[in-house]
Amino acid sequence: MEQVSINKLPARIILWGGTGQAKVVRPIIEHFGSKVAAVFDDTPNLTPPFPDVDLHFGYEGFKTWIQRQHDNDIGFCITIGNPHGRVRLRLHERLLSEGLKPVSIAHPTAFIADNAEIGPGAQVMAGAIVCPEARIGRQCIINTNASVDHECILEDGVEIAPGATLCGLVHAEVNAWICAGATVLPRIRIGADARVGAGAVVTKDVPQETVVVGVPARPLVKENC
Ligand SMILES: CC(C)(COP(=O)(O)OP(=O)(O)OC[C@H]1O[C@@H](n2cnc3c(N)ncnc32)[C@H](O)[C@@H]1OP(=O)(O)O)[C@@H](O)C(=O)NCCC(=O)NCCS
Repeated sequence: MEQVSINKLPARIILWGGTGQAKVVRPIIEHFGSKVAAVFDDTPNLTPPFPDVDLHFGYEGFKTWIQRQHDNDIGFCITIGNPHGRVRLRLHERLLSEGLKPVSIAHPTAFIADNAEIGPGAQVMAGAIVCPEARIGRQCIINTNASVDHECILEDGVEIAPGATLCGLVHAEVNAWICAGATVLPRIRIGADARVGAGAVVTKDVPQETVVVGVPARPLVKENC
């Protein structure tokens, strides 16, 4: 996994994604002395999240905007939350190829152990905890008050929702989504693109692309309409 510096931010940062995640990320960026230069979103007719920052539509909007910029020290933060880790990863590569720099941010109230590894584009929100020897991949979001205990591995694009708890040595594969308030017991593996429902307690490995809910967590079976 790539290791990056947290909260070492360029003076100007764009946000890609113009809803709730943008609203919680902006104060962190400003706390560390940077400015949100523009917001981009692919949703037509979206209400701008901030009255004082321009909202641009899609990649065409980005291309027009970037041509008008005169410096090449612009960071990006992809503020698209659950369950869109794979979208964040695609956008990450695209914006890198345009010469922008991914930023990794952590709220000042978050705790990150010195020997935890944090990947590019990661977001660690208020009150979140990342314990020793945890390894957090690219474009992961560890949301408000979530905790990721010792030696956990989060592959790229994983999102840990508010208040969720990963006990030690949990391994979450690419784009796994652990929903609000869920608990994952030690050494459990959560497969790629799997979802753990809000409030679930996961006692067994979860296969890829599987949704589990409940205590103890079981696969969600939807009846055919
Ligand atoms: C697990 C989850 C992703 C499944 O979503 P979904 O596939 O759209 O599921 P549905 O809403 O269609 O619900 C299907 C059934 O599962 C049940 N269910 C859904 N989520 C559940 C949960 N977390 N625990 C227990 N049962 C749940 C529903 O009640 C429904 O049961 P029914 O068929 O008897 O009515 C979602 O319900 C969830 O937990 N979301 C949490 C969101 C979150 O944490 N967001 C954080 C934002 S920062």
